[in-house]
Amino acid sequence: MKIKKVVVIGSGTMGSGIAAHLCNANIPVTLLDLKTEISEQARDRIHKSKPPLLLDKSKINNIKIGNILDDFQEVKEADWVVEAVVERIDIKHDIYQKIFKERKKGAIVSSNTSSIPIKVLSQHLSEEEKKDFCITHFFNPVRYMGLLEIVKSENNDLEKINSLKKFCEIELGKGAIVCNDTPGFLGNRIGVYAMQIAMTEAFKMKLSIEEADAIFGRPMGIPKTGIFGLYDLIGIDLMSDVLKSFIKELPETDKFHEVAKEIPLLKRLVETGYTGRKGKGGFYRVNKTSGTKVMEAINLETEEYSPSKKINIKPEKVDLKSLINRNDKYGKYAWSVISKIIKYASSLVPGITKEFNDIDEAMRLGFNWSKGPFEMLEEIGVTNFFDKIDEYDNNSFLKDLVKTKNEKFYGQRQKYTKIETLGKAKKTAISVDGNNSAQIYRFKDYNVVEFTTKANALDYNSMDALKKATDKPLIIINESMQFSAGVNLSYTMEFADKNDLKSIEKFIKYFQETCKHLKYSKHPVISAPSGLTLGGGFEVMVQSNFVASHTNIVVGLVETMVGLIPAGGGCKEMLARWLNTDEAKKDPHYATLKVFDIIGYGRTATSPVEAEPLKYLRPEDKKIMNRNSLLEVSKKILIDNKNFKAPDELKFKLPGKIVRGEMDKIIEKLYNDKVILDHGVVVAKELANVLSGGDTTIDKVLNEDDLFKLELGAFMRLIETKKTQERIKHTLETGKPLVN
Ligand code: NAI
Repeated sequence: MKIKKVVVIGSGTMGSGIAAHLCNANIPVTLLDLKTEISEQARDRIHKSKPPLLLDKSKINNIKIGNILDDFQEVKEADWVVEAVVERIDIKHDIYQKIFKERKKGAIVSSNTSSIPIKVLSQHLSEEEKKDFCITHFFNPVRYMGLLEIVKSENNDLEKINSLKKFCEIELGKGAIVCNDTPGFLGNRIGVYAMQIAMTEAFKMKLSIEEADAIFGRPMGIPKTGIFGLYDLIGIDLMSDVLKSFIKELPETDKFHEVAKEIPLLKRLVETGYTGRKGKGGFYRVNKTSGTKVMEAINLETEEYSPSKKINIKPEKVDLKSLINRNDKYGKYAWSVISKIIKYASSLVPGITKEFNDIDEAMRLGFNWSKGPFEMLEEIGVTNFFDKIDEYDNNSFLKDLVKTKNEKFYGQRQKYTKIETLGKAKKTAISVDGNNSAQIYRFKDYNVVEFTTKANALDYNSMDALKKATDKPLIIINESMQFSAGVNLSYTMEFADKNDLKSIEKFIKYFQETCKHLKYSKHPVISAPSGLTLGGGFEVMVQSNFVASHTNIVVGLVETMVGLIPAGGGCKEMLARWLNTDEAKKDPHYATLKVFDIIGYGRTATSPVEAEPLKYLRPEDKKIMNRNSLLEVSKKILIDNKNFKAPDELKFKLPGKIVRGEMDKIIEKLYNDKVILDHGVVVAKELANVLSGGDTTIDKVLNEDDLFKLELGAFMRLIETKKTQERIKHTLETGKPLVN
C-alpha cells in the first residue's frame, strides 16, 4: 500500500499539526473541519506557529482546506484518512460512518484519540472495515514530538499496519511504536502517572513547587519544566479532564487511582481562572503589578504567591544513584518518585506491551525524558534497587528480576524499529571512553562522540574528546534534545569572574585548533545535528567534512547576542561560503557585508529549508526527517567516501579598511534607530573588523590562521568588557538577551 494522499478531519491543535507535518513530508493533504473558515483559521495558525510547524512556510498553500459538507468527496481519493475531531464518541462515530461510505477500498482510517479504546471507536464498523481501522496517536506539537503510537486491534490486517508504520517512520520521521489497546497506551499511561506521583509526593513531603521542579527535572533526565511547570504548560483544567478519563477507563485495582484523586488546590485554581500559562497563571504566575515582571510561585500550604526561588541542586548531571542516595529531603523525594514510577511501569508488563523497552522509548520520544523507567532501574543497579525497595506485590516483572538479580537484564534498545539507531549501536561499541563533557564510543571502523553536558554546551573537555576521537573516521551525534547550544558560558564566566583571561584564551585557542583538526585530519568527520546547533555547536558542525542534519534543527551564530563574536571559526567559514558565490566574485564587498548582516543580527534558521539561503547548511548536506536514521545516513557517508582526502586549506581575499566605511554607516543607522545601544556598537565594530579581514587589502591572501587570529583578538577584547560580561550573566540567568 502506498500513501499518496491524506485527508485529515478536524483542524484543531492536532489536526492542523498533522496536516502541517504531512506537508513537511511533501504528501498532498486536505484538511477538513465543520466550516471552511475554521480550516482557514487553522492554516493561519500553522503559518504563525511558534516553534514553527512547517519546515518551509512558503508551502502553506499546499495544504488544501475545506469543510465536511462541501468537500467530503476528497476522502474518495485518500489512501489514509486521519480523524482528529473533538474527543466525543458520538461525533467520532458519525464521522466514521461518513468516511467508510466514501473511502477508497482498502484505504486506512485512523483516529488520533488520546483516550477512547479502539473497540469503542470501531464498535459500529463491519469486520471488513475494522481491518483497516486503527489509532494513530500523535503528540503535540506534531513536528517536534518524536512519538507516534499506533494502536492496533486483533481485526487489523497486520501487513497494512506495518506499511503504515513504515510510512510514518520513513516519510514522517516518527518513532512509530505499535502498542495494545489499553488506556493511555504507553506514553500517557506512564507519563501521566509519573506526573501525578511527582505532584502528590511533593504535597506529602511538603516540598515547595520550585524544589519539586528542581528534582523532577534535569537531575532525573526530565525536561526542566519539572512537574508544576509542566502542569501549567499543559493546562491545569486539561490535566483534570485527562485524569477523569483515566479514572473512568482503568480498573479499580490499578495503582493509578491512588494518585489521580482530585486535589482541592487544583480545583480552586481552575475555578478562579488560574488554568496555567494560557490563563491568569497557575502554580507559577508572572506578576506585573510593581511595574516589572516578577515570576512568582504558589505556596502549596498557604496558597499564596511569592517571588519564585531558584533551587540549586548540584550536580547538574544526571546521576540517579547519587540523587536517590542523598541524605536530604531531595534524595528522599527523588527515590520515592523514581521507585514508584519503576514499580508502576514494570507492573504493566506484559499487559500494555510485552516489550518493556518500548515503554522507555515512548517516554523518550513522547515526554523527552533522557531515560525511561527501565533504564533508570538499569542505571540505579538491580541489586541497589532491591536493597532499597520495600514491597512489590503483584509485580511479576520485579519478582522475576529479584530471582536473577541480573544487572544486564536490559538487553537491546529501540526494538520497535529496524533502523540501526545510535541507541542500539552504543550498546555494541568495542570500548567506551571519554570525560565529563563527552563520551567516545569506539567501533571497528569509526568512532562516535556524544556530548553529555547540559544543552551539550562545549568546554575544554568536549574539545579534548573530539580531538582524541579523530584517530578514526568520526561521527559527532547524540540522543539528547540539542546537538549543542554553543560554548559553555558559565564555564567562560567562571574564568572571567576571576579575571583569568589567560584560561579563556587557552580554551578558545584549543577550540580553534580542534576544529581545524576536525576539518583537516586524514579521516572524515561527520556531524549529525538535531535541535539547537548554535554558536560553538554550529562551528563544530561547519568544520566537519560532512553533515547529516535532522530536519528539526535550530541553527545559527548567535554570539553577538551575548556581546561576543564567533571565535571558533564561525566567521571564517561563513566568509568562505559567501565568498564562493557569483555575487562575491563580482563585488569584493559582498561576502563581508552579507556575513556581517547574518552574524550581526544573530540570525537563526529553524529548519534546513531556512538554513540553506543563509548558507548555514549547504545543498549537499543531508537533511533527514527521521532522527533515528542519522547514524545510518552518517555511516553511509563514510562508506561512500572510502577514499576521503582532507580538503585544501581555505584562502581569503578580503577588502579590509575600505569596506569598513560602509559597515560604519550601517552601525550608525542602527544606533540612531536605537536598534543597538552603546555596547552594540562596540560588538558590531569588532565583528566588522574580523569580517573585513582586519588590516588587509583585497590583493593580499589571508589563510585560515589569519582569520582565527582576528576572531580570537576580537573575542578577547570583548570578553574583557564589563558590558559583555553583563550580557552573558543576564542570558545565563534569564535565558534572554540583554540590550546594552
Ligand atoms: P481541538 O479542540 O483543538 O480541535 C478539534 C477540531 O475538531 C475543531 O477544529 C472542531 O471544529 C473540529 N470538529 C468538531 N466536530 C467536527 C466534525 N463533526 N467534523 C469535522 N470537524 C469537527 O482538539 P485537539 O486537541 O486537536 O484534539 C483532537 C483529537 O486529538 C482528540 O481526539 C484528542 O483526544 C486527540 N489528541 C489531542 C492532543 C492534544 O495535545 N491536544 C494530543 C493527542 C491526541
